[in-house]
Amino acid sequence: MGHIKEETARRRTFAIISHPDAGKTTLTEKLLLLGGAIRTAGAVKSRKSEKFATSDWMELEKQRGISVTSSVMQFTYNDFKINILDTPGHQDFSEDTYRTLMAVDSVVMIIDVAKGVEPQTIKLFKVCRDRGIPIFTFINKLDRQGKEPLELFEEIEDVLGIESFPINYPIGMGQSFRGVYDRFQKKIEWYNENKERQTLDIESIDHLSEALKGVADQSTIAQLEEELLLIEEAGNEFDIEAVKAGKQTPVFFGSAVSSFGVPSFLEHYLQMAPTPQPRESSAGVIGPDQAAFSGFVFKIQANMNPAHRDRIAFLRVCSGKFEKGMTVWLDRTGKSLKLAQPQQFFADSREMIDEAYPGDIVGLYDPGFYQIGDTVCSVKDTFNYGELPQFPPEHFAKVRAKNAMKQKHFLKGINQLAQEGAIQIYRTPYEETILGVVGQLQFDVFVYRMKAEYGVDLDMQMMPHQLAKWIVDKDAANHLQRSSNHLVVSDRDERPVIIFENEFALRWFNQKHPDVKLADSSWGLTS
Ligand code: G4P
Repeated sequence: MGHIKEETARRRTFAIISHPDAGKTTLTEKLLLLGGAIRTAGAVKSRKSEKFATSDWMELEKQRGISVTSSVMQFTYNDFKINILDTPGHQDFSEDTYRTLMAVDSVVMIIDVAKGVEPQTIKLFKVCRDRGIPIFTFINKLDRQGKEPLELFEEIEDVLGIESFPINYPIGMGQSFRGVYDRFQKKIEWYNENKERQTLDIESIDHLSEALKGVADQSTIAQLEEELLLIEEAGNEFDIEAVKAGKQTPVFFGSAVSSFGVPSFLEHYLQMAPTPQPRESSAGVIGPDQAAFSGFVFKIQANMNPAHRDRIAFLRVCSGKFEKGMTVWLDRTGKSLKLAQPQQFFADSREMIDEAYPGDIVGLYDPGFYQIGDTVCSVKDTFNYGELPQFPPEHFAKVRAKNAMKQKHFLKGINQLAQEGAIQIYRTPYEETILGVVGQLQFDVFVYRMKAEYGVDLDMQMMPHQLAKWIVDKDAANHLQRSSNHLVVSDRDERPVIIFENEFALRWFNQKHPDVKLADSSWGLTS
């Protein structure tokens, strides 16, 4: 038991969220380099190119030069075991990204100093905030001219509605960027002409000017002093409890491409970020050091290796110790499974593992056993972690097989892909199938995979609808009148869902039916 406690305490599991091009791949790579998980720069980057495109449908990624899948990487740094869950880096991201956030204990948000808070970041951020996930902000590309730090804090507070607290502060920007001043450790960190990291402790801000002589120019130093005094006096107080509740974000500045500020970011992050957290279950809160092993499946990825047609179920370990070959129970079916080929993922490889602890992500070979949200436990019939929410899709299409003879394959395909979480499916009262997706790209992947994996050509009819809302009280759906403004359908678990063409149609509905409560996702609703 003591062992599990210790192993849990040294684990940190997080996802990096950002708008495409803010520097997620670069920062990930620098973190892996620090941990010695990769030896050369460019190793992660190549995932975006042909090197990693090993499967059929990754062909699609290759053709479009995008990453549609998210993966997991583990590395060690100063005795910490760090799990990074990567999220797709394309503008048109998918529900997969949202679900990945369900499996982490904290999130690192990267902001491009020139662009500030961008739309995709806002969307992902909202999911984190609703779940109270602690958020750490890394403001990147300080080697370029960008927005002033004070302006960025204001933007974080206004646009995202969360307090900010700069842990470090940039010394200059663009051409005159020299490094950062660490407000916590009262330390200047800069890189000399040989790109060696230098640090210098100072007693207080009053000594900055003296210490920075010869490092930065006079006007940079003067501006730094003035702004630091201002945030000391008028800025937020650091509050670790607020950080842990996702109400305050510690902010760091740096330049990922040149590693400026990356080591100090990682060191602070490891001290402040939460260890693997307890999780709500049907039997109350389950702590990580609970004796029984348990975890849940948050992602299923098909055809990682087309030669084997394999599917991998990604399991987040929540409690106890995972051991290779152990027998577990799948709560949904009540059946037992032997976990014979568990894998763990490193920067550019996956390897068999013998054991894993809370916070770790294990890849399980999946011949079709698992569904997204499944709970596995080493003890039979004890609890489950509840299903993962379905997130509100924003694009809808009616779909059927072009060739009616292929109906069986069609149904198999859509059910498997829905089970895998690649799409959401709804049925109209007339037994028509409607697909819902968060990003358009999911449609492309869906069409590609239905053809490549199930041999089915599709007839797809795009719908003008943009919003889905779940009806909280199931019975309320029976009393709704038909209307051209909305469509009542049911989700995979037979829960009633209304899809609307636009916000106007939703408002109209709310006015007409003030007593029908609607929810943004299926989170917490009974089926
Ligand atoms: P992403 O995964 O969030 O999409 O971003 P990625 O790391 O791929 O970075 C996007 C671009 O921004 C890359 O340039 C990368 O080199 C650059 N970048 C990342 N961090 C910094 C930084 O601190 N400063 C500056 N100036 N640039 C940075 P690219 O031209 O798209 O690719 P490449 O030719 O450099 O490979």
